Amino acid sequence: MKSIIYSFLLSTLFLSVKAQDIKPGAIWPDEQGIHVNAHGGGILYSNGTYYWFGEHKSEKTSAALKGVTCYSSKNLTDWKNEGIALAVMPDGSGSDIEKGCVLERPKVVYNEKTNKYVMWFHLELKGKGYDAARVGVAVSDKVTGPYRFIHSYRPCAGKWPDNMSETERTSTVKPEDFEKWWTPEWRQAVEEGLFNRRDHAGGQMSRDMTIFVDQDKKAYHIYSSEENLTLQIAELSDDYQSHTGKYIRIFPGGHNEAPAIFKKNGIYYLITSGCTGWDPNEARMFTASSIWGPWKQHPNPCRGDDANLTFHSQSTYILPVAGKKDAFIFMADRWTPKHPSDARYIWLPIQFENGLPVLKWMDKWNLSIFD
Ligand code: DGJ
Repeated sequence: MKSIIYSFLLSTLFLSVKAQDIKPGAIWPDEQGIHVNAHGGGILYSNGTYYWFGEHKSEKTSAALKGVTCYSSKNLTDWKNEGIALAVMPDGSGSDIEKGCVLERPKVVYNEKTNKYVMWFHLELKGKGYDAARVGVAVSDKVTGPYRFIHSYRPCAGKWPDNMSETERTSTVKPEDFEKWWTPEWRQAVEEGLFNRRDHAGGQMSRDMTIFVDQDKKAYHIYSSEENLTLQIAELSDDYQSHTGKYIRIFPGGHNEAPAIFKKNGIYYLITSGCTGWDPNEARMFTASSIWGPWKQHPNPCRGDDANLTFHSQSTYILPVAGKKDAFIFMADRWTPKHPSDARYIWLPIQFENGLPVLKWMDKWNLSIFD
C-alpha cells in the first residue's frame, strides 16, 4: 500500500512539473473546454501572467460582431477566458467600431508613463469593405479591459517618410497615369512612392499591423500600407496613443502582410507573409540592426514539408517567453474563412541556425525546448 501511495505522489509531482504540450493546428480548449477565440492576436506579459488578445470570430462571418477577446494564462497552455476586452458598438451607433466593422490583428502594450494599457488594431469601417485602411486605438486602466475606443485614422498625414528622396517627394507621377497595374513602369512608380504621395495629405493606408516596444520603451507601429504593397514603420508618441509622424517605408512594392517582429542581441527580426487573402503563402524574413534600417531580406525561415505555405498559416505575433533567454514563439493563424471561429493557431518555437531564425513543424512541443 505504501509503495502505491509513494508512486501516486511521485507521478502527481512529475505531472505538476512537466511542461504541458502546445499542439499547433489542434483545437485549443480554454478552461471551459471551448476552442480559444482570439485570432490574429498578440500576447502581453504582465505581472506574471500572459494575456492573449485576439479577434473574436463568429461561425459564419469574419466581420466583428463582438470585438476583441482576452484570455489569461500562467503557463501559455491553459487559458482562461477573460471575456471581451474591447466591445464593438451597437448596430446603428455610427461609431467607427460599430458591430459589423472589420477589426483585425489587435495588439496591446503597456505604457509606463501613463500606467495605461493601449490596444492598437486594424480597422475597416462597416459596409466599406477594406477601403478605409485605418488603424484604431483603445485604452484601459486594467489589462483585461474594458478598453475605451479613442480614435481611428490613417497614420502620418502630411508627413514624408525619412527615407523618401526629394525627387520621389516632388514627382508628379500619379496613379491615374497608369491604365494598368503590375506593368514594369507601374511597379517602378510604386517603388518610387506613387501611393505614398497620393495619400500624403490624408494619411497613409494602414492594414495588417503589429506594435513593437523596444528596450528603450519607444514603441513602433509596423503596417502594410500603400495598397498593401509597401511596409511602413512609424514611431508612436510617448503615451503610445498616436503617431509622432516619423516613419520609413521598407520593401516598397514587396507586397508584405502580417508583420511580426522580435529583437535579439541588438538585431531586429521581422517575419511577414505575402498577400493572398486568407490563403497561406511563403513567409518572408528580414533583419536590421536599427529599426530605421537598412533592412535586409533573407530566405524563407520555414523548413520541411509545407514550408512554402508557412505550414498552412500566416504570421501574427512573435512572443518572447518570460524568464527564458532568447526564447521566442512564432504565432500564426491557420484561417478557415468558411467557418472563421474554427481557425487554428500555429505556434512554433523559433530555433536558430547559422545565426538566423528557423521554423520547423512540430505536432507537439513544450517550453522545455528552450532549456
Ligand atoms: C490577410 C490578412 O493578413 C488578414 O488579417 C485579413 O485581413 C485577410 N487578408 C482578409 O482577406
